[in-house]
Amino acid sequence: MNVGIVGAGTMGTGIAQVALMAGCEVHLYDENEDSQINARDLILARLNRLEEKGKIGEGTAKRYFGNLYLIDHLHDLTGAGFLIEAIIENREAKMQVIKVLDQRAGGDSIIATNTSSLSISELSKACRNQERFLGIHFFNPASLMKLVEIVPGFKTSDFVVGKSQEILDSWGKTTVIAKDYPGFIVNRIARPFYNEALRILEEGIADIYTIDGAFLQEGFKMGPFQLMDLIGNDINYQVNETVWQATGFESRYRPSQLQKNMMITNQLGRKTGKGFYDYAGDKSDSPARDNSELGRRVFKRVLLMLINEAADLLYRGVASKEHIELAMTLGVNYPKGLLTWADEIGVDECVASIDKLFEHYHEERYRCSPLLRDLANQQKGFFT
Ligand SMILES: NC(=O)c1ccc[n+]([C@@H]2O[C@H](COP(=O)([O-])OP(=O)(O)OC[C@H]3O[C@@H](n4cnc5c(N)ncnc54)[C@H](O)[C@@H]3O)[C@@H](O)[C@H]2O)c1
Repeated sequence: MNVGIVGAGTMGTGIAQVALMAGCEVHLYDENEDSQINARDLILARLNRLEEKGKIGEGTAKRYFGNLYLIDHLHDLTGAGFLIEAIIENREAKMQVIKVLDQRAGGDSIIATNTSSLSISELSKACRNQERFLGIHFFNPASLMKLVEIVPGFKTSDFVVGKSQEILDSWGKTTVIAKDYPGFIVNRIARPFYNEALRILEEGIADIYTIDGAFLQEGFKMGPFQLMDLIGNDINYQVNETVWQATGFESRYRPSQLQKNMMITNQLGRKTGKGFYDYAGDKSDSPARDNSELGRRVFKRVLLMLINEAADLLYRGVASKEHIELAMTLGVNYPKGLLTWADEIGVDECVASIDKLFEHYHEERYRCSPLLRDLANQQKGFFT
């Protein structure tokens, strides 16, 4: 199949590699020539490394790489049957690109955006034919992360959703379907992972080592502060801000002032040598597993907020139970699905603990999801 990708940054490069390795012909365009060249060199280096390691057969890297074409003009891209926009996260810039793709692409072509946070239905307004437009949200690094969220806009046809699923399945990805809600599944449910941890730190209840250590103890690959430093406090803050705005400033999503201050003072994390942890010195500054009573308490508080968010997404019909579980385990590597976790704790116990937080703080942030309460009243679990 012939795939067109606009934007040769982190995501465009990764998606191009995935499509090449699935045997597609890939046409890659970026307005910045250096980005295009970097993407090409990176893809070649990665394919060669895979061949050296024996992960792909001899001569395969060259064969895959031979199917990559760098394109000089956006309108030359439009012969492709599957077009993916992966440029910077800017609504106007994306709509301009999508408009050209829609005007020039053949009638059968599918047009997708890899946006993390913009409304798919709104972006689809750049198309005359909105039925062929949808969100296809890969995770970073696209070549390694199995999950792709498929997000139909209000007017996307079922045929286009099914066809996109089929293509991504053939690329070796696991797809979940999400409604066009701010943050889709993963970026929405994961908000409390960062924000509740920040709140606990702001309140002086526990320090970053205890909070992160408690997550490591529970089987997470990284704690919230380690992950914020990896993602970058600027990027992570921006996602918090976007979800907050897109939900009509629902107070439970209000971004943390502490994180904003980290951003303003350039304590962005690994990329600036200093975030919540210090990366500049020789000494390793990192958390160790923490099994203290305090660690278990703060972990449970964040976990409850994650469960509450997952329940609310299910309540609003954004995704199915099964897809919510897949999304959080494959998209952000949580050791267990959140709804399964709720069942293990006991839904009634979750509700009682969330209500205690609400009684203490009297903030909308700690409002229990109606679905959790209904299940508790019926003495049911999500899967039991
Ligand atoms: N990085 C992530 O972790 C991640 C994960 C999932 C989704 N996304 C989304 O994927 C998209 C791309 O993110 P990224 O991290 O690859 O960004 P990036 O900054 O690494 O790359 C963006 C590329 O787009 C190019 N570009 C900008 N405007 C353009 C235009 N008008 N026409 C052609 N090319 C243009 C830039 O030159 C750059 O090479 C964003 O929408 C982002 O939200 C990012």
